[in-house]
Amino acid sequence: MDILKVTNLCKIYNEKMPFEALSDINLTIEKGEFIGIMGPSGSGKTTLLNLVSTIDEPTSGEVCVDGNHPHRMNADELALFRRRKLGFIFQSFNLLPTLTVKENILLPLTLEGVALDQMKILLEPIAEQLGITPILDKRTYEISGGQAQRTAIARALIHSPKLVLADEPTGNLDSKSARDVMELLTAMNKRQEATMMLVTHDAMAASYCDRVVFIKDGRFHNEITQGGNREVFYQKIINALSLLGGYRHDFPTVRV
Ligand SMILES: Nc1ncnc2c1ncn2[C@@H]1O[C@H](COP(=O)(O)OP(=O)(O)OP(=O)(O)O)[C@@H](O)[C@H]1O
Ligand SMILES: [Mg+2]
Repeated sequence: MDILKVTNLCKIYNEKMPFEALSDINLTIEKGEFIGIMGPSGSGKTTLLNLVSTIDEPTSGEVCVDGNHPHRMNADELALFRRRKLGFIFQSFNLLPTLTVKENILLPLTLEGVALDQMKILLEPIAEQLGITPILDKRTYEISGGQAQRTAIARALIHSPKLVLADEPTGNLDSKSARDVMELLTAMNKRQEATMMLVTHDAMAASYCDRVVFIKDGRFHNEITQGGNREVFYQKIINALSLLGGYRHDFPTVRV
């Protein structure tokens, strides 16, 4: 079953000079799949994520999530759709500083009016898996970057969204924390059958995905699938990136 189907998606930004940031993108993601999106800076990755997450409107084309067409919805329908079907993980975490870690994680449930004892049942295992049980009562300015990232992941997953969207979730982390986050996301992907779409520049992070789609100059370029061996996949990703061009620096070959 398809969770996400993107058809002939185009985005033209209309500043003073119209600029086509995405051209004719077609992409299907099946239930439970973990997809990476890679491409040089400015290739349109965030634009694609913003169109799928309904933060921005496409110029033409369709986005279909779990049988729904969010870009055809009115504002009220859209708010509910985003809250119920989607989970977001941003590079900047977007945690609310006036709330505790626990309150931040429970926010999607609070908005839905879920009962307190039900919240507790949902919170405990996810906090345990993410190793943040001891910091649940801290404010977000009292925790580290890695803990903030795990808090953001817990918040994105607590309501079992159909589709989890992540933009550079490991961008601010050291390589050990980045690896931990990817292992957590993979575990959540397997355990909750959450479908995930991850934008990243990091070949190590991408090597945890089932499939990596490369875009260049706003167009689909190619895709490769993992097939079971992450170390081999990492090398394939490095090769694909060097063929893709647009990256100024060489890639490390031993960081798996
Ligand atoms: N609001 C906007 N108005 C005009 N142009 C934009 C806007 N947002 C992005 N662009 C342009 O669209 C192109 C794609 O941008 P996008 O942010 O999707 O790239 P990206 O692949 O996410 O890059 P990065 O890896 O640097 O995050 C870029 O050339 C960018 O300058
Ligand atoms: Mg981006």
